Amino acid sequence: MIIATGDEVNMHIFLDTANIDQIRQAAKLGIISGVTTNPSLVSKEKATNYEATIKEICSIIHGPVSVEVIAEETQDMIKQARDIVTWAPNVVIKIPATVAGLEATSILSKEGIRVNFTLCFSLNQALLGARAGAAYVSPFVGRLDDIGDNGMQLVKDIVGVYEHYHLSTEVIAASIRHPQHCVEAAKAGAHIATVPYSVLIQMIQHPLTDIGVTRFLSDWKRISQK
Ligand code: E4P
Repeated sequence: MIIATGDEVNMHIFLDTANIDQIRQAAKLGIISGVTTNPSLVSKEKATNYEATIKEICSIIHGPVSVEVIAEETQDMIKQARDIVTWAPNVVIKIPATVAGLEATSILSKEGIRVNFTLCFSLNQALLGARAGAAYVSPFVGRLDDIGDNGMQLVKDIVGVYEHYHLSTEVIAASIRHPQHCVEAAKAGAHIATVPYSVLIQMIQHPLTDIGVTRFLSDWKRISQK
């Protein structure tokens, strides 16, 4: 059921939301390979049943759906992760890049549970996550930019070092705020960009395309009226 993302030479687009309507709309476009959620995104939605919400998302999008543990201690993370993976076959467990998270990632990865090593803000965190066997690492571009750092440089650095050592962990450019982030993520060689629905729509829109469509249609109407 799980769509492997590493077998194509193209940047995959994940949707970064827990909003079911947005996921359904985006799924219709046929270009969404996965979904990432986090506790903040889920809490924005009206749904009160976390498990039911995730199960519904997993039934709409058959690619990887990242679901975050809500715990700070290793054993609690592991316990939650082992439960969450029973919800759907395409669930990926998001674990924060902390000491406790690193240990949990090592243990869960050895069990064959796919981990998205999240809240990554440094190359060292990304290196350790890959060593622990994480399937994905999520550098948070926008949040680094917010504090005056260069988020996309981190994506470039991780992609470069992973390639150098032939590491199979896939890089998800996360905390994407605008379409230019997607352009830069693709140029940096990110395997995946996870984008809010609004950014996804901005990616396809261009005023010259709209003007062109309007002009073509009005020219065509003139001919057909002759
Ligand atoms: C990624 O997996 C996160 O859910 C997300 O990109 C965080 O974005 P934010 O910094 O806009 O909250």
